[in-house]
Amino acid sequence: MSDAVTPFQAPIGTHDVLAPSSAEWEGVISTFAQFAYRYGFELVITPMFEDVGVFNRGIGEESEMATKEMYVFTDRGNRTYALRPEGTASVVRAFIQHGPTTPWKAWYFATAFRYERPQKGRYRQHNQFGVEVLGTDDPAVDVEVIALAFRFYEAIGLTRFRLLINSMGDAVCRPAYVELLRAHLAANVDCKDANCVAVTSEGPMLIDWLCPECREHLDRVIAGLSSIGVTSVLDPRLVRGFDYYNRTTFEFVSDALDSAQNAIGGGGRYDGLTEQLGGKPMSGIGFGSGIERLLIVREAEGAEPRNLVNRALDVFVIDTTNEDVATALVDELRVAGLATARAYDQRSMKSQMKLADKSGARLALLVGPQELAAVEVTIRDLRSDDFEQTQRRVARSEIALVVAELLKS
Ligand code: HAM
Repeated sequence: MSDAVTPFQAPIGTHDVLAPSSAEWEGVISTFAQFAYRYGFELVITPMFEDVGVFNRGIGEESEMATKEMYVFTDRGNRTYALRPEGTASVVRAFIQHGPTTPWKAWYFATAFRYERPQKGRYRQHNQFGVEVLGTDDPAVDVEVIALAFRFYEAIGLTRFRLLINSMGDAVCRPAYVELLRAHLAANVDCKDANCVAVTSEGPMLIDWLCPECREHLDRVIAGLSSIGVTSVLDPRLVRGFDYYNRTTFEFVSDALDSAQNAIGGGGRYDGLTEQLGGKPMSGIGFGSGIERLLIVREAEGAEPRNLVNRALDVFVIDTTNEDVATALVDELRVAGLATARAYDQRSMKSQMKLADKSGARLALLVGPQELAAVEVTIRDLRSDDFEQTQRRVARSEIALVVAELLKS
């Protein structure tokens, strides 16, 4: 009987990322980092787990997230923690803890955990990047945050996305609206599931009951966006899944995804969140964008996986001397900034040549007994059809210079 171990699998709803997809991740993340920097955001890194109270703030009705979706655990010290289901509450907790000068503009790249039913585009562990701005309610900041997302999506090659925007009102106008909605629902009590949707969709809409301040704020955000050519669609039915939102809320949806999972990013204002977490009153706004979904959308739109980041090899070193020539050569070229590979295990010339061809490297450097004796290296352009003619021998001491020149051509 075999006692072989059954190979383990990644947990349900999680994914390993290997090349070439991992190169695309690198490209998307580094592009986002560049954009965040251009827009004046600094990187913030917070723990993957927090006191459960950071996410489950226990204010009135419990949110979906708090009750059903969190990974909660008790550690050996009997503290109750949750794996973060999102970035915003953690970043706001860090803001309160450290008190940086405002306006504070922070960006993050965060793995998030939600116990959801896995399906395409919805996972138990996903990755987000996002930004948060604390300390101003200037509509210009709403415009800037939304513009960052918009320009970033453009930069990674997305074309089929739309920006939906709405206002959740504030502590002045929302309570009155909630009363109205209650009254509407009470008057239409026979609320069977399917009918419920119809009843609510016929009901009063918050957009019609915004206080003048909230309405003006929204109008200025929409006008600001349109002044820089960012088209938004007012969607009075847009409601997002966290209880902390007020005023501006928005979502970017992609027409390249199934409508159930078509949000590539979303966010909004959360002007009361600092207080809910024990801090002073402070305005805040931000957004988060799911990396897995962005990659699904890029694929659906036919974007080239590797075009965001260059992960091509420059040089492949072939060494048949059985000395340490290859070790020295690859080190020298790597120090000079070139992506360099070699073969191992003392393979034959033929087998190393095959590997060099497969590697996609632009140049092969060959060192055999002859080159070793002459203190030279043969350079071969792997893209040339006739390398017998084009290959040449170069003094060992000049190799890094010559290779750098050739790679420019
Ligand atoms: P969210 O809409 O829950 O917002 O998530 C942001 C994005 O993360 C979504 O638009 C989607 O692309 C991706 N995402 C969410 N859940 C999953 C999942 N289970 N699997 C794959 N992708 C997912 C937030 O998290 C807020 N913190 C955004 C924010 C920042 N609001 C203000 N500041």
